[in-house]
Amino acid sequence: MILNEALTLGVFVLTTMMSNCGGEDIVADHVGCYGTTIYQSYGPGGQYTQEFDGDELFYVNLEKKETVWRLPMFSKFAGFDPQGGLRNIAVLKHNLDILIKLSNSTAATNEVPEVTVFPKSPVTLGQPNLLICFVDNIFPPVINITWLSNGHTVTEGVAETNFLPKDDHSFSKISYLTFLPSDDDVYDCKVDHWGLERPLLKHWEPEIPTPVTELTETVVCALGLVVGLVGIVVGTILIIRGLRSGSVSRHQGTL
Ligand SMILES: *[C@@H]1O[C@H](CO)[C@@H](O)[C@H](O)[C@H]1NC(C)=O
Ligand SMILES: *[C@@H]1O[C@H](CO)[C@@H](O)[C@H](O)[C@H]1NC(C)=O
Repeated sequence: MILNEALTLGVFVLTTMMSNCGGEDIVADHVGCYGTTIYQSYGPGGQYTQEFDGDELFYVNLEKKETVWRLPMFSKFAGFDPQGGLRNIAVLKHNLDILIKLSNSTAATNEVPEVTVFPKSPVTLGQPNLLICFVDNIFPPVINITWLSNGHTVTEGVAETNFLPKDDHSFSKISYLTFLPSDDDVYDCKVDHWGLERPLLKHWEPEIPTPVTELTETVVCALGLVVGLVGIVVGTILIIRGLRSGSVSRHQGTL
């Protein structure tokens, strides 16, 4: 009974989505969503996640057909049969196939993703930190997010979330990079999506706060030195002039 209800709702959501889809630039494939379950015909791939209070609890790895808990300790207290997730995705796929036919394979319109890069904690040189690349407004949920350090691809210390569904049928996704802030290293979060003409590079480099007091001290000290030197030079010239004019007037006096 509950499954039936879910099916009806699923078809409804899919219909709404498909009817919203424009057919101009057909690049993307078809996407079906129901709650946090996604199926998309590109790949093909899907994602089954379960959330609690907006936080992901677990997802079902479709290739390995296993449940992956966000926090591994949860798996000790709770279990979830991955077949449940796989069944949901199979239902979505079935519904989507019907809808694709109904819509004459009209594909979804690609959205332009929005990318923001920021560090998790305030940056201190030499103190390990986490760079966060937050990609918003993703549709369809097919994307490559990679990290570059000084222009070279980084694979170590990289992790990313699943697609996080939003109310407007788009998705967000977060990629993480652990890094050691240093003077010399700059970073880019590279996003590749059908909504972009070319991969988007979002640059980030540590902003080393200039030690203001030290700088001011240096400037004041340098200025003082310059003023002092100028004083000595001017003083010396004046003294020499004074001496000269003194001797000249003395000469004149004797004449
Ligand atoms: C799909 O294509 C067929 C034949 O080309 C046409 O009769 C039908 O109206 C189309 N359906 C939609 C939903 O565009
Ligand atoms: C992601 O990368 C793969 C492998 O390089 C590529 O085949 C695919 O087209 C890329 N996807 C997007 C959306 O750019």
